[in-house]
Amino acid sequence: MGSLGLMRALPSIALVLAGCAFEAPPARPPSPPYAPEFTEVVYPILLRDCGFPDCHGSSERFFRVFGPGRTRMEGLGLMVTDPRNEMEVRASYERARSMLASSLTAEETLLVRKPLEVDRGGAPHLGIDPLGQDVYRSTEDPGYQALLTWARRGFGEAP
Ligand code: HEM
Repeated sequence: MGSLGLMRALPSIALVLAGCAFEAPPARPPSPPYAPEFTEVVYPILLRDCGFPDCHGSSERFFRVFGPGRTRMEGLGLMVTDPRNEMEVRASYERARSMLASSLTAEETLLVRKPLEVDRGGAPHLGIDPLGQDVYRSTEDPGYQALLTWARRGFGEAP
């Protein structure tokens, strides 16, 4: 390849090198703590704010939450008012954890960005109410803060 050829190839070589510098998210989703942080803090919040049968109780959602007063996990024969079941809590944990995947930081994850208003840094989300408002109006919301604090534990970030 003459010097002219090399000059022409330089931009694509630079692109390839820049591509190599790209930091890929971890292959496996982070594993934030289960008990008591998830079981006693995050799980009740997910049930309360996300788990409605038409929302994350629905079989159409990948991110699903199961529990009392919401959708019960199939095959356990539970009534809507029956107490919580360990298999439901564990399944909700794995689904919530999966929404931490393919991100480099806790703040970038779908779990915390989806329920946050877009103009406050959230991601577009069909989980808005009839007034067009998302679940969490700002990053100050205690529900948002609880999800973020838990997610950060999974990324080894300071709370
Ligand atoms: C804090 C509570 C909530 C969290 C953390 C949350 C999180 C998420 C996440 C991670 C997704 C993408 C994965 C998926 O499709 O399952 C999503 C999508 C979705 N959510 Fe939610 N959500 C919440 C509340 C709600 C509520 C209350 C509703 C119903 C009013 C809802 C309706 C939907 C719908 C329809 C989608 C699919 C379309 C889309 O991607 O926006 N969500 N949500």
